[in-house]
Amino acid sequence: MVCFRLAPVLRVKLFLVCLALGAAQPFTLELNLTNSEKATCLYAKWQMNFTIQYETTNNTNNTVNISPLDNVTYNGSNCGDDHTGPKVAVQFRSGFSWNVNFTKETPNYSIDRISFSYDTKDNKTFPDAKYKGIVTVSDAVAVKIPLNDIFRCNSLLIYEKNDVVQHYWSILVQAFVQNGTVSREEFLCEEDKSLTTIAPTIVPSPTTTPTPKERPEVGNYSVTQGNSTCLLATMGLQLNITHDKVASVININPNTTDVTGSCQPKTAELKLNNSDIKYLEFVFAVKNENRFYLKEVNASIVLANGSVFSTANNSLSYWDAPLGSSYMCNKEDTLSVSEAFQINTFGLRIQPFNVKEGVYSTAQECSLDDDTILIPIVVGAGLSGLIIVIVIAYLIGRRKSYAGYQTL
Ligand SMILES: *[C@@H]1O[C@H](CO)[C@@H](O)[C@H](O)[C@H]1NC(C)=O
Ligand SMILES: *[C@@H]1O[C@H](CO)[C@@H](O)[C@H](O)[C@H]1NC(C)=O
Ligand SMILES: *[C@@H]1O[C@H](CO)[C@@H](O)[C@H](O)[C@H]1NC(C)=O
Ligand SMILES: *[C@@H]1O[C@H](CO)[C@@H](O)[C@H](O)[C@H]1NC(C)=O
Ligand SMILES: *[C@@H]1O[C@H](CO)[C@@H](O)[C@H](O)[C@H]1NC(C)=O
Ligand SMILES: *[C@@H]1O[C@H](CO)[C@@H](O)[C@H](O)[C@H]1NC(C)=O
Ligand SMILES: *[C@@H]1O[C@H](CO)[C@@H](O)[C@H](O)[C@H]1NC(C)=O
Ligand SMILES: *[C@@H]1O[C@H](CO)[C@@H](O)[C@H](O)[C@H]1NC(C)=O
Ligand SMILES: *[C@@H]1O[C@H](CO)[C@@H](O)[C@H](O)[C@H]1NC(C)=O
Ligand SMILES: *[C@@H]1O[C@H](CO)[C@@H](O)[C@H](O)[C@H]1NC(C)=O
Ligand SMILES: *[C@@H]1O[C@H](CO)[C@@H](O)[C@H](O)[C@H]1NC(C)=O
Ligand SMILES: *[C@@H]1O[C@H](CO)[C@@H](O)[C@H](O)[C@H]1NC(C)=O
Repeated sequence: MVCFRLAPVLRVKLFLVCLALGAAQPFTLELNLTNSEKATCLYAKWQMNFTIQYETTNNTNNTVNISPLDNVTYNGSNCGDDHTGPKVAVQFRSGFSWNVNFTKETPNYSIDRISFSYDTKDNKTFPDAKYKGIVTVSDAVAVKIPLNDIFRCNSLLIYEKNDVVQHYWSILVQAFVQNGTVSREEFLCEEDKSLTTIAPTIVPSPTTTPTPKERPEVGNYSVTQGNSTCLLATMGLQLNITHDKVASVININPNTTDVTGSCQPKTAELKLNNSDIKYLEFVFAVKNENRFYLKEVNASIVLANGSVFSTANNSLSYWDAPLGSSYMCNKEDTLSVSEAFQINTFGLRIQPFNVKEGVYSTAQECSLDDDTILIPIVVGAGLSGLIIVIVIAYLIGRRKSYAGYQTL
């Protein structure tokens, strides 16, 4: 197993680069394994690709990239039993298979061994291969994670073995899930942790960061796919983190925030990232084929004292509007991700699906805004009605007491 060791600063760049590429080729694998009682025993979401070198019939070496992965199936994945741990088995394209084993050793569990096989008989993928047959590479990964924690690794992990280079990133996995509930406690990989150790040098005054009371600046964010914009967002964002009983309020400065994301027919992602925010990810989904909503928020934020706060919630239901329209909320609104993490939004407008020609479609407004429009109308209508009544009463009154109109 060869791991690329990179200087920390370089790693940050690599991380940003891989985020950007992730936007160009969105393909996320996701598996929610359930046992016979339909309770989740393993949850995994990740991205991977492979580069394979093989020898050709005329003794030269050819390199092929296996990315993105097509025709993915998860046959053979299972929860395991008392004796063997759970296993994730993935098949893709023609003849590729990928497996990972998990083992438990209280108080931890481990991602044990990854094995990857490909078939060089597939002459579309491996033209002129000298050796024709199944090749398998196997790696002992041995990542240890506390039981009941979900493992997260957004950084790019590279394993190089024999003729195969394996890339993994945006990993989220929990095996031995207890009581069928995926944990909110994250265990970060070393690579993600080391990203944060640089942060305190960037944060100018770690001791006395004043809590910003002012409104955050409203930023425009968009995601493009091919050469068209597929997701639009306009919003001012204020993060409110309660960590160790201390509330940190962070305004996002759109000028210094990078945007990436992806758009698929039924899911869309918007990821923000800057020197304080390792990632702030909004995931949108479609429901009943005709509405969209904000389903998931994942966040990892470097606090003023240099510690990292991470949280995720994939069962949210905010910003609900019909497909083909946008969602708008001008007033300050609060989106509660977890007990310890809220996002205050200002001047929000968002359209994660069906963006036509890079502009927003008609907006559905939040109920907060409705009030603001309704109240002045009701009050205004009431007032003008009252004024008319008074004027009429006045005119009638005057007509009765004086005979002439000229005095009016
Ligand atoms: C595989 O993924 C890595 C990380 O995202 C990326 O740098 C690389 O270009 C990808 N390879 C291919 C062939 O797409
Ligand atoms: C996994 O599937 C179960 C049962 O279908 C569901 O209750 C649970 O919410 C799912 N979990 C995730 C993380 O998708
Ligand atoms: C090897 O063979 C392939 C086709 O069989 C040919 O396209 C390629 O140019 C050859 N390479 C060399 C170095 O001769
Ligand atoms: C092809 O790769 C093998 C090992 O991967 C190496 O031993 C060999 O020298 C390479 N051949 C050429 C022509 O580069
Ligand atoms: C996976 O299972 C499905 C149905 O259970 C089957 O149609 C498919 O052929 C299987 N794929 C592989 C690669 O075994
Ligand atoms: C994926 O499956 C479709 C049909 O099921 C097939 O036409 C296509 O060639 C497959 N793609 C790959 C890369 O095997
Ligand atoms: C998974 O574990 C079983 C036994 O525990 C072993 O036989 C099998 O080879 C392992 N598979 C991989 C891919 O490591
Ligand atoms: C690939 O293999 C099939 C049979 O296995 C053969 O019919 C076909 O001609 C081969 N294609 C190429 C490009 O070599
Ligand atoms: C699972 O349920 C048992 C009993 O209902 C409880 O004691 C345990 O704390 C639960 N574990 C988690 C991680 O929620
Ligand atoms: C990109 O734009 C050009 C011209 O504006 C168009 O011809 C091309 O089809 C577009 N490509 C995609 C992937 O939309
Ligand atoms: C931040 O959250 C705390 C606890 O939920 C709350 O008391 C406080 O008012 C919030 N501050 C802002 C600016 O939203
Ligand atoms: C962002 O940039 C705009 C224009 O360049 C500037 O007016 C604004 O003050 C900047 N905002 C912050 C918070 O730096």
